[in-house]
Amino acid sequence: MFTHINNYPQIEKVETGIAGFDLISNGGLPMGRTTLVSGTAGSAKTLFAVQFLAEGIQRAGAAGIFVTFEESPADIRRNVKSLGWDIEAWEAAGKWLFVDASPDPGQDQVEAGRYDLSALLARIEYAVAKIGASRLSMDSLGAIFSQFRDGATVRSELFRISSILRHLKVTSIMTSERTQEYGEIARFGVEEFVADNVVILRNVLEDEKRRRTMEILKYRGTSHQKGEFPFTVVSGRGILAIPLSAMELKQKSSNVRISSGNDDLDLMCGGGFFRDSIILASGATGTGKTLITTEFLNSGTQHDERCLLFAFEESREQLFRNAVGWGIDFEAMEASGRLKVVCAYPEAASLEDHLIAMKDIIEDFKPNRIAVDSLSALERVATPKGFREFVISLTSFIKHQEVAPNRISRR
Ligand SMILES: Nc1ncnc2c1ncn2[C@@H]1O[C@H](COP(=O)(O)OP(=O)(O)OP(=O)(O)O)[C@@H](O)[C@H]1O
Ligand SMILES: [Mg+2]
Repeated sequence: MFTHINNYPQIEKVETGIAGFDLISNGGLPMGRTTLVSGTAGSAKTLFAVQFLAEGIQRAGAAGIFVTFEESPADIRRNVKSLGWDIEAWEAAGKWLFVDASPDPGQDQVEAGRYDLSALLARIEYAVAKIGASRLSMDSLGAIFSQFRDGATVRSELFRISSILRHLKVTSIMTSERTQEYGEIARFGVEEFVADNVVILRNVLEDEKRRRTMEILKYRGTSHQKGEFPFTVVSGRGILAIPLSAMELKQKSSNVRISSGNDDLDLMCGGGFFRDSIILASGATGTGKTLITTEFLNSGTQHDERCLLFAFEESREQLFRNAVGWGIDFEAMEASGRLKVVCAYPEAASLEDHLIAMKDIIEDFKPNRIAVDSLSALERVATPKGFREFVISLTSFIKHQEVAPNRISRR
């Protein structure tokens, strides 16, 4: 008998709490299963593994086990302090437990038989039961498997670990090293076949710039977004992925016109800009992009709207002085609380970091009008692909906020 495919239940997912990842993965990590997180050196594998547990504790009170083969628990505790995670406190509260299989600095390294896998699995089982863990991270497989010479052994041992974890009903992450950004998925060339789910973290050098991306390579039996998504590591927050195509175009469009701040321009546009629209003002240097932006913001404050300006080309002093020259008093507008001017050097941060900072400010200030002067300045610090993703992500974010018309100027 054939059953319609839609009658089958989807595999349930556990929200990781890693911003953006839950969107890309259509809900998080497959529940009760193991996901292989593979990446080159410094691709943030350990961070991903730690954050999965940290968010679980903070958001859902879910207890987690961290099995470490490389860094000592003391190092891990110290490394993530700046991200705002107090592992020690969680350990004291019975929410976090280390299974320490890291090399003992005092002991000779005996490669062969360094890990007795059965003993390790017994320790893991004990730890899971002890704190009632529902999440587990294992960092990283390279260290444990370096003792096995052939792929077949790695394959069977990996299978053994995964099936025990499945039996324990924990949702888990195993990290694994790879030597290239594109090419073999993981070191031994077999890990990805055994794993039900594979996530790849990349730290690619493009045009002398580092760009981090994550990609879900496979999720057995469930859906996810395809392709690479940029992410960044932010102090105090950890990994932040930036979903692009994951954004739905569900924002409302408006027929309401609002003034551009310039009567002639309003006339040309048939009565002003549409509310909730995004306008690209493009022109060579000196054609009046900053003037148009200033008038647009001025008109907003006159209508009692909250206006936000992101300036990447000129300093505050320059901007305020220019505005005075056009008879507009930015200072008074700021004092009234209706204007916020944010100036930044494009070169001061990566485009992903700029994007996250801008989103935070927008969420916080809740503006009715936003202006960016100029996109071109940001284009200078990005790769073409990174820039395209930035524009898509920023505009779809703004549309979701249902801000009134925004102007983005570009040379
Ligand atoms: N506390 C922190 N604050 C800011 N950035 C951090 C922090 N911890 C890690 N990072 C960033 O994340 C990067 C990756 O760290 P992580 O140790 O997770 O990588 P990894 O893939 O596990 O590397 P390895 O292959 O060496 O094990 C660091 O190089 C750093 O850029
Ligand atoms: Mg690591």
